[in-house]
Amino acid sequence: MFSFFKKKKPIVEKEEVKVVELTDYSDVTKIAEYFKNETGVTFDKQINILTNKVMTFCRQREIISFEKLLSIVDSDAKIKQELIDYLTTNETFFYREFRQVAQLVELVKACVGNVDILCAPSATGEEPYSIAIALLEAGVIPSKFKIVGIDINSDALDRAGEAIYKERNIRNLSAEILDKYFDKHGEQYALKNSVKSLVTFELANLFDPSFLNLGKFDFIFSRNMFIYFDAPTKIKAKNILESMRKNSHQEIFFGHADQL
Ligand SMILES: C[S@@+](CC[C@H](N)C(=O)[O-])C[C@H]1O[C@@H](n2cnc3c(N)ncnc32)[C@H](O)[C@@H]1O
Repeated sequence: MFSFFKKKKPIVEKEEVKVVELTDYSDVTKIAEYFKNETGVTFDKQINILTNKVMTFCRQREIISFEKLLSIVDSDAKIKQELIDYLTTNETFFYREFRQVAQLVELVKACVGNVDILCAPSATGEEPYSIAIALLEAGVIPSKFKIVGIDINSDALDRAGEAIYKERNIRNLSAEILDKYFDKHGEQYALKNSVKSLVTFELANLFDPSFLNLGKFDFIFSRNMFIYFDAPTKIKAKNILESMRKNSHQEIFFGHADQL
């Protein structure tokens, strides 16, 4: 018969099957536990803040869930470091709680030989550089002291190495000190090499066994890190730092807010 009466078979195009992966950012507890185990830093009282921060971290990297993030950080050292850099707080400034720095200067002056000083943590460098400046100001010769700054945050250490600071970081410094030890470039203050060269920085985690390889020190500053630890972690951290003293009678310099 007439073929044009025949119903044409509809052309069925192959449907694209899209696999929609469901995101799950509901329970951050395991990330909080992981982070505390790795770094000592606790978010116990700031779980909502942690949820929002880690969710942003995941979204920026197209990681669909906290569970997935956990499996990634276990095998990917780069993402793990990025998470640490993202979640640690590096607030610091020059001549913070200066009275302790002044005490240290007197102790160093009274030492007969050379001294090794540890700043754990150093964040972006203001604390160890403050110590170096204060020692120079007191007339201590650079060959008498070595200062090591460590931190778990790699971004902070990169900035410590650059040693270029904003107005708010140098707010406690006098015009005379600024003039002597910094070069002003626009709104920024670049620390001179004569001070930069007196401090070495290392990426280190206080709770990693390799931390002890840093050696022993005459004086240890550990300020404003314990505020992020819970009580048992503070004890653990204190024991580690105490084991790194050359002289077991020398008190460690903790921050006033650290509440041991
Ligand atoms: C607020 S800053 C203190 C800087 C400086 N000591 C001061 O008082 O101004 C705290 C620093 O502790 C570091 N931190 C936290 N947990 C650490 C760990 N387990 N090992 C080494 N550094 C850590 C953070 O990365 C951060 O830079």
